[in-house]
This record gives sequence, C-alpha cells and structure tokens, in this order.
Amino acid sequence: MNTQTNDNTSRRNFLAATAAGTAALAAVPQSLSAGAWAGGSDLLKVGLVGVGGRGTGAAEQALNADPGTVLVALGDAFEDAVARGRRQLTRMFNKDGTAPRVTVDDDHAFVGFDAYKKVIECSDVVLLASTPHFRPEHLRASVEAGKHVFCEKPVAVDAPGVRSVLASSALAEQKKLNLVSGLCWRYHPGKRATFEQIRNGAIGDIVTMQCSYMTGGVWDPRRRPDECKSEMEYQMRNWYYYTWLSGDFNVEQHIHSLDKMMWAMNDEPPTTISGSGGRQVRTDAKYGNIYDHFDVVYTWENGVKAFARARHWPNCENEVEDYIFGTKGRVDVMGHKIMDHRGNVIWKYDGPDGDMYQIEHNELFAAIRAGKVINNGDYMCKSTLMAIAGRLAAYTGQRLTWDAVMKSTEDLSPKSYEWADNPVPPVAIPGKTPFV
Ligand SMILES: NC(=O)c1ccc[n+]([C@@H]2O[C@H](COP(=O)([O-])OP(=O)(O)OC[C@H]3O[C@@H](n4cnc5c(N)ncnc54)[C@H](O)[C@@H]3O)[C@@H](O)[C@H]2O)c1
Repeated sequence: MNTQTNDNTSRRNFLAATAAGTAALAAVPQSLSAGAWAGGSDLLKVGLVGVGGRGTGAAEQALNADPGTVLVALGDAFEDAVARGRRQLTRMFNKDGTAPRVTVDDDHAFVGFDAYKKVIECSDVVLLASTPHFRPEHLRASVEAGKHVFCEKPVAVDAPGVRSVLASSALAEQKKLNLVSGLCWRYHPGKRATFEQIRNGAIGDIVTMQCSYMTGGVWDPRRRPDECKSEMEYQMRNWYYYTWLSGDFNVEQHIHSLDKMMWAMNDEPPTTISGSGGRQVRTDAKYGNIYDHFDVVYTWENGVKAFARARHWPNCENEVEDYIFGTKGRVDVMGHKIMDHRGNVIWKYDGPDGDMYQIEHNELFAAIRAGKVINNGDYMCKSTLMAIAGRLAAYTGQRLTWDAVMKSTEDLSPKSYEWADNPVPPVAIPGKTPFV
C-alpha cells in the first residue's frame, strides 16, 4: 500500500495554485480530450478518489457502464478504506478465466491527503467521491491533468471552493473533457420526463416551490481509539458533523432537493436568500458544529419563492418531497405526477424506472467513446452555491443576496492537512456569526 500521511499542504495554497495552474494550462498536453477513444476499442483506465460507500458504488457503475473500462488505481485518506474497497471491487469484478477488471496492486493503492495526485496520474477517467471539502482541489488537479471526471455532489463547502470549481469547469470545457455531476436526479428517467412536462407548459408559469428533506440523520459519531488518534482523524472519520468537511447537511444532503428547484428555474439562481436553523437534538460536542434543522426561503427576481426545509431529527416524521406550483397546476416531483387545481391527476410518468447512478456513468462513458462532451459544471456549481447560501443565511440570520454569497470570502479550510489537532469553530449563532 502506498502511504503518504504527512501532507501539510494548505487549501489556501491549493486555491492560489488554481490561478497559476490555469495560466499554465496552455502547456498541458490535451491528448486525453474527448475523442481519444472515439474508436470504441481501447481500454479506459479508471481511478477512484475517495473509496467510501459512494465511491465504491461509482467505481462499480463505471465498470458496468463500459466493458473496456479497467479500475487501475484507488486513493483515500485512510488505508482501511482503500483495502476494503479494493477487496470488495476485486471480488465483484475479477472472475476466473476472464481478464481482470480491477488491476489495483499495492503500488496503485494510494493513501493520504496526497493520494489523489497519484490516482489522477494513472487514470484516463477520474471518479471524485471523497468528502466534499476536497472536491475543488481534486477537480482542479484532474482537469489540469486532462482527465475526464465524474464528480460527486456537493462540489464545494464554501464560495471560494465554488469559484475554483467554476474555473475548473470552464477549463474542462476548453479542453473538451467530460465533467459529469453526481447530482443524480438529473439523470433519473422519471424526473427528466417530469421536468420536460414543466418545460412544455403543463403547469403554466411557476409561482412557488416547496421542498423538504427531513430524515432521522446519519451515523452516530464514534471516537474509536485505534481509529481516531488525532482530532483531525476524528473529524475526517466523522466528516458529516463538521461544516468545513461536509458543508453542513443543508449542503451535503438537501442539495438534491435544491438542485431540483434550480432545475425547475432553468438554472437561473435566486436573487435573495433568508432562513433560520439551529441545533435542537444534536447538542453534544461529539456532533461537531453542524445544525440539525434549516428553514430557508429562496426568492427569484420574478418573485417566485422556494420554501426549503431540512431536518435531521430521529424518531420524528420523515419527509423527502418536492412540489412545484404553477398558474395551471402543480407537480409532485418525487411522485412524477401533475395535478390540476382541483387535484385531478392530469399526467403521470409511466416509463421505465432506471438506475440513475448507472445512467450517469452510461452517459459519461458513451460520450467519451463517441468523442462528445458532457459538462454539468454550471448547474453543479449553482446548486452547490444555493445550498451554501441557505446555510449562510441560517448561520448569520441575515438576508443575503446571490451576488454577495458568490463573492463570500469565507474559507472553511483548516490551517493544514495533518494528523494533528484541528480546533473546531463554535456552532454558528444567528445574529452574532458574521457574514464574510
Ligand atoms: N449522489 C448521491 O446520491 C450520493 C450518495 C451518497 C454520497 N454522495 C456523496 O459522495 C461523497 C462521499 O460520500 P460517502 O457516503 O461515500 O462517504 P464515505 O465516508 O463512505 O466515503 C468518503 C471517503 O472519502 C475519503 N476521503 C476523505 N478525504 C479524502 C481525501 N482528501 N482524499 C481521498 N479520500 C478522502 C474518506 O476517507 C472516505 O473513505 C460525498 O460528497 C457525498 O455527498 C452522493
């Protein structure tokens, strides 16, 4: 196993490097741009950064999407994650008597904060599925190296991260590299058909929207002495509970609903954002510094409002639903149904269900083979910023504008990436926590 655990690169350096890297791009060979495999016969080397639940799933989907794909490299902050993912994927894909689809040997199993660099070097297509904080840097490095990318959501945890991803996305477009987003509902057949109906005027003009992501939460944080030898390791292993790592759950999870609101508005961002939130049931210090509930109102220039609520409260009513109301009727997005004002169902999707996670990869690899380019950069950045804006509005208690959030200088990065102490900022207090 290739272990590098002593990286102390700061993210501020990463972001500074972005500008310099962009300038140096003209010099980067572009041999991996779309079209390199248009013949359809060559092997495509796939590398995975972030070998957790989603990353392992994404690797499986990449291997299922195209018989010419081979998983050549894995990279994770933790050795146990790489070993687990490698075992699992090898068992699934390497069958006696056939060529192995997973060729990751010890020299291509990379560990540490720098592991992504080695994975990118070995791959034609990079799957980015680490915790969200690292995505801007992982994407920048992938695109600068001329690699096609599958990029999980959210793409950043703060506005400087979003701006970095916007630059990488523009670069991917310039280099004709595919950039497919993990905002998976955009690849779901039923949702695609439903949004097509909205586009075609089935509910008239959109007046208002409502989305709810209310669940019992995620895993209970653990501080196992063998696993959490430093505060940084504890936070990395329980990343969901730290705003610097996950963006808080309005960003990590509710982004799926907010992305549908953005989709309905043709990816035109809201102009103002206000909201509230707090910690009602997750008050213990072990739960880091994220909130457990958010209520946010997003307002567009034409007066359309989206009422968005997200909750992580165990033993309470769960609800994951999205509704869009128009002048002629309303849409139950999750139910793929359109009703008139009397509640009569006037349209219902009855096509195939389809696995949206698989479809993302099918379309990514088909595009690479055909020499075509998919670039989901625009909406993945806007939906991420929308989710960050909701968090900031709730944390500060202020009404924010889209433009101000886009220019926010709040950088959530730790001082350094080391297995050492990493002080946690206090839980945000509306009215006291400033917007920066
Ligand atoms: N599209 C979806 O429906 C969907 C579903 C689940 C998760 N996700 C997203 O996928 C990402 C991963 O989520 P998960 O559930 O797999 O979490 P996970 O904890 O199972 O996996 C994340 C992995 O990333 C690793 N990691 C952290 N920092 C790293 C770094 N700097 N370099 C390399 N590896 C690093 C962690 O050690 C861990 O193994 C998150 O952004 C999450 O929002 C998307």
